[in-house]
Amino acid sequence: MSTILIEVRRAKPADAAAVAETHDASWRTAYQGIIPGRELDKLINRRGADWWDGSIRKGSRISLLVFGETVAGYANYGRNRARSLQYDGEVYELYLRPEFQGLGFGRRLFTAARRDLAQSGIKSLVVWALADNDPAVAFYRALGGRPVARSSEKFGDKVLDKVAYAWNG
Ligand SMILES: CC(C)(COP(=O)(O)OP(=O)(O)OC[C@H]1O[C@@H](n2cnc3c(N)ncnc32)[C@H](O)[C@@H]1OP(=O)(O)O)[C@@H](O)C(=O)NCCC(=O)NCCS
Repeated sequence: MSTILIEVRRAKPADAAAVAETHDASWRTAYQGIIPGRELDKLINRRGADWWDGSIRKGSRISLLVFGETVAGYANYGRNRARSLQYDGEVYELYLRPEFQGLGFGRRLFTAARRDLAQSGIKSLVVWALADNDPAVAFYRALGGRPVARSSEKFGDKVLDKVAYAWNG
């Protein structure tokens, strides 16, 4: 019998290539048919291993869900970027590789990110999801997020609605 360790830990520079691969696989499947193909390619290609290496080295908060030796997902988070919203923190991105979705790992990663923010005094938080991203919307609702704002973002010539979900401190 073998035991597989599943843990959430901070990303290290040595993880950069694995995070880039996780980003590529999860964004491609999540946004195919939602974000126009050429725009999606651009968003993915600008986030190679070098980009992640730089981000990790400059101290961005990036946590990984690691399944055995495999990076199954990542979350990055920090201070809320939208001044108009009265929430301290923000989960900027939370993505799992397709084969690791639906197993409770998203909840685990989100809870870890929230706890990490709370430890530095950031108690309330917000997360933005594209309104067409049905699984993400269902996920944030299942986690108790309340829809508090709407906005839109342009991807090439397509304008997509996004919704902010919030948790109080
Ligand atoms: C969205 C995502 C992070 C959810 O993670 P996950 O590990 O699949 O979700 P979990 O298994 O932890 O589920 C947690 C809760 O959300 C609910 N949920 C998750 N995905 C759902 C879906 N597609 N439809 C309905 N409910 C869903 C679960 O039922 C569960 O509720 P419960 O605890 O009350 O039973 C993951 O599927 C993912 O990475 N998707 C692609 C990337 C993405 O869209 N990221 C968000 C960008 S804003």
